[in-house]
Amino acid sequence: MLNVAILISGRGSNMQALVRESQKENAPFRVVCVLSNKADAAGLAWAQEQGIHTVVVPHKDFNKDRQAFEQVINEKLQECGAQLVCLAGFMRLLTPWFVQQWRDRFINIHPSLLPAFPGLDVQQKAIDYGAKLSGCTVHFVREEMDHGPIIAQAAVPVLPEDTAETLAARILKCEHQIYPQAVNWIAQNRVSIINEKVFIADAKAPQSLTNPCAE
Ligand code: GRF
Repeated sequence: MLNVAILISGRGSNMQALVRESQKENAPFRVVCVLSNKADAAGLAWAQEQGIHTVVVPHKDFNKDRQAFEQVINEKLQECGAQLVCLAGFMRLLTPWFVQQWRDRFINIHPSLLPAFPGLDVQQKAIDYGAKLSGCTVHFVREEMDHGPIIAQAAVPVLPEDTAETLAARILKCEHQIYPQAVNWIAQNRVSIINEKVFIADAKAPQSLTNPCAE
């Protein structure tokens, strides 16, 4: 049973998808902690209702001392026995020190097909660029933001009438599928990283496994 911690800053819909997956019979992971840098993150209340241990580490208390902030986060993660850390809309950049502490045990979900469109407002960027496909990516976290070995991706069309909101909603549905899927694979010890590429054991039909949103 893999102990998973989830870091959020807001509504936490991906966190909810992970928690729901963990509540299924025979799930190979459990959520031991939901941590937020914001006390008013909507997702915290939901996690508490589910009986999940929640922690708030307000970044504002640390007066821009990022490493002190991250040291406290790190301690909290150790205290709850986390073995895998999942970023789920956590809106603070983490330093190379923190990334190193959790190397290969630290993953993120991003609402584009990386390496296209890292950063913020990426649905609008995909529309502005004229991309015909976008989607979402689950990847291991490396020092560079929104960069790292890709575990799973799902693609969705970008429609001519799309706004950033409608595209985000279409992508979010896929996020809620591939993030739990990726954590399951890790918890089942099926994921290895070789030369910074991810291989998933027993992926008999890689296309459907890595793109569960394909119709
Ligand atoms: C998601 O789109 C995720 O890909 C990005 O931030 C958003 C978080 O949404 N990293 P939620 O808090 O999980 O609902």
